[in-house]
This record gives sequence, C-alpha cells and structure tokens, in this order.
Amino acid sequence: MATSKTLLIVNGPNLGMLGKREPEIYGRETYEDLQNFCRAEAQKRGYLVEIFQSNSEGEIVTRLNRAMQGNYCGIIINPAAYTHYSYAIYDALLMLSVPKIEVHLSNIYKREAFRSNSVTAMACDRQVYGRGLEGYADAMDLIVHITEERAKEGKTR
Ligand code: DQA
Repeated sequence: MATSKTLLIVNGPNLGMLGKREPEIYGRETYEDLQNFCRAEAQKRGYLVEIFQSNSEGEIVTRLNRAMQGNYCGIIINPAAYTHYSYAIYDALLMLSVPKIEVHLSNIYKREAFRSNSVTAMACDRQVYGRGLEGYADAMDLIVHITEERAKEGKTR
C-alpha cells in the first residue's frame, strides 16, 4: 500500500528499451539506470517510488485506475508515444487529483511535427521535456512545489 510519501512513476511503450533505443535521442542510460536514478532522487527528497512500465495502453489505464485507491503524493508519467493520441490515458489522468507531471526525455517540440501535440499533458499540472533522466528529478521538484502551494491554499490533495 502506497503511503502519502510515495510517488507513482508510469512509463509507456518502448521506454524499457532505453540504452538500445535511438541513443542519439534518448541517451545511453538503460531503463534500469532510469529506475535507479528515480529511486535515488526520490530518496533525496524523502519520497518512496513505485515505478511501472508497460507497452500497452490498457495496462497503463488500469495502473492509473488502481492509483485511485493508493495514497500517492504525486504522479510522474512519460506516456511515450501514447502522449500524442491516447484519450484513454488522458481520461484516466483526469480522475486523479494529486499533482501530475508529464515527462519526456527528448525535446518533443524539436522533432517530428506529431510529437509537438500532447493529449495527456492537458490532464497534467506541468510538462518537462528535453532534460533526459534529469527531467524525472525536475518533476519531483515540481511535485514538491505544487504540494506546498496547495497546502498554502488549504487544499490537502
Ligand atoms: C518520449 C517522446 C515520445 O514522442 C516518444 O514516442 C517516446 C519517448 C520521450 O521521453 O522523449 O517514446 O516520450
């Protein structure tokens, strides 16, 4: 059971291939490196993490639906190619009221035109792109910031 100090990190299709996948775009770090990086950065900020990766849209939706019962303090999602067309993931994100940050390793605004459109970002609080693995640490900082801002406004979630 997730505690209120747990972040959920969801990674979409082909991200499991990091290291082998177009390294000139995504870097040489492997998916295992990404997971270790996220765990270490979360620990620095006093968070635990649950990390989930799937190549299937339905499994991502199901994982996000399950997160409705978990007591997460924030969600970091890299929906990968689903970013650009998944209204199902968009809808699943809309249901979650905790801070949500969309992350992209690459700069999606400087690539093929279709990547400049994010459907899922519309359901997130912020988007981070073009920072490689560091983008996940930036997302954690944004979650800390949004949580503090919400606390000041008197909102608990
Ligand atoms: C990505 C960008 C997407 O356009 C692409 O389909 C991915 C990875 C990124 O992290 O830069 O799979 O989300």
